[in-house]
Amino acid sequence: MIPKRAGSGAEPATDRYADLQRSLTGLFAGENDLIANLANLAALVYHELPDLNWAGCYLLRGEELVLGPFQGRPACVRIAMGRGVCGTAAARRASVLVPDVHQFPGHIACDSASRSEIVVPLVDGERLVGVWDVDSPKLARFDAADRDGMEQLAGIFMDSLRAA
Ligand code: SME
Repeated sequence: MIPKRAGSGAEPATDRYADLQRSLTGLFAGENDLIANLANLAALVYHELPDLNWAGCYLLRGEELVLGPFQGRPACVRIAMGRGVCGTAAARRASVLVPDVHQFPGHIACDSASRSEIVVPLVDGERLVGVWDVDSPKLARFDAADRDGMEQLAGIFMDSLRAA
């Protein structure tokens, strides 16, 4: 098993995301399978970024979000549109950064260790594919640099679906 990174904080977030973008582009080379690429996205982010306890996705199935590939503890399977952080990001088609999950009305607690969370929509133009969700046991773990970095990773994933 790959040891999870300790939270040294030595490397700037922008450098970390630049490394992740390169790694992800390599992992996706020549592959456009949605499940395979989401599984590798989750594994890469979970193991390479410090202070995470969950990284994965929910996919739009009809009118609700259904659990997809992830790393971390088992999670709730179905989330209605507009519910929780995931359903809010999905309904708004916009990223949601939650510094303290206990202050987010309607937050769905899948892992009681989670203290902060970021959710990024996975969109192809106007079409919602799902959401990319990352949790941390640290308060205020994610900032604007993480939001930008996660949105770029989500974009690389969406581009991979269109690649041959
Ligand atoms: N906390 C999320 C639910 C999913 S788990 O964090 C894996 C939410 O409020 O939508």
